[in-house]
Amino acid sequence: MKRAISVNDHTGAQVRRLCAAAGLTERADEVVELLADLLGPAGQRGIDRPPAWRSDVADDHCPVEYSLAFEEDGSTTLRLLVESTARRPGPRANMNAGLRSLERLARRYPLSLDRFDAVRDLFLPAAPVGAFSLWFSVVVTAAAVRVKVYLNPEVSGRAVASGLVRAGLDRLGFTGAYAHLRAHAARQESCLDTYSFFALDLDDTPRSRVKVYQTHRHAGLAEVRRLASAFPDADPVEVVEFAAILGEVETFRGRPLVSSTTFLSGSQARPDGFSLYVPIRDYVPDDAAALERTACVLDKHGHDTDLLRAAVRAVTDRPLGSGTGLVAHVSLRLGRPRSGVTVYLSAEAHGVTAPRASAA
Ligand code: TRP
Repeated sequence: MKRAISVNDHTGAQVRRLCAAAGLTERADEVVELLADLLGPAGQRGIDRPPAWRSDVADDHCPVEYSLAFEEDGSTTLRLLVESTARRPGPRANMNAGLRSLERLARRYPLSLDRFDAVRDLFLPAAPVGAFSLWFSVVVTAAAVRVKVYLNPEVSGRAVASGLVRAGLDRLGFTGAYAHLRAHAARQESCLDTYSFFALDLDDTPRSRVKVYQTHRHAGLAEVRRLASAFPDADPVEVVEFAAILGEVETFRGRPLVSSTTFLSGSQARPDGFSLYVPIRDYVPDDAAALERTACVLDKHGHDTDLLRAAVRAVTDRPLGSGTGLVAHVSLRLGRPRSGVTVYLSAEAHGVTAPRASAA
């Protein structure tokens, strides 16, 4: 009898091809092994069965998403967003699985856990609620593999999310950062804007960041302009154009726009960077259109569109018109540590979302 293809088989092959496309072949074995380690039981599952935990990492609930960061200096970084889940998954069991993954990561890589330890009691409560409590980003370059964690401001409910963000920033020494976020909100006192991630780089370098992500439901280009204007180094016109090309709408009524504000260690209230994430998959008929619009913004920003096409082909060989969501998000990063465009690609391990035309 033929053994079913597992998530590890499926994603391992994708990772090898992505590493090859991004010029990171020498890292492939390490990343494949690391991904399987982080996935745990979810990796051993057959792709023909629905996942045991409906992870919010990707639309098919597979707990992996790839991204390719195009940097201004012409280099590219491959990243994997991963949720560790337990054999018998649940909010608390997954949190513990994530913590065990982090221990293994810390044995393997020179992680700096000081900032994580300073905020962990805020974001990892005894009884977590919400979509997740701990996600990892594995950041692969020729020089190193780095790790970042995403914590969930809504892990104790939406009502206390902003309090957690404020306390987290204060504890990490970014006094005034929360006030800055408040003063430059997309909309004043609106429940349409919520905190979605509190992310920490776990390496100890001058480039280590704290990033606060916000989700902006039903936001439009006016809100994009306002958010970008809060960041002194951004050109609001450039950011608005980016969103307009990808979305081809005035208001994003489907999956919401997300923004993030970066604070580098050493600096204070003033943010060092700003990013806008466009969930392109809800605003295109299919992935063929998503790829063309993404190539257009990459080209405008001086990045290599052949590499994007190669990365897409590394992930799937299906006709791009036959589904949507392979290209999940596209983001624009401004300021320090580096500016660039990042493209998020779904593993589509458990399924492909039908194109919009045929879904309608
Ligand atoms: N799948 C979730 C979403 O689309 C979380 C997520 C995964 C996400 N990758 C992302 C959110 C990139 C913003 C940007 O919201």
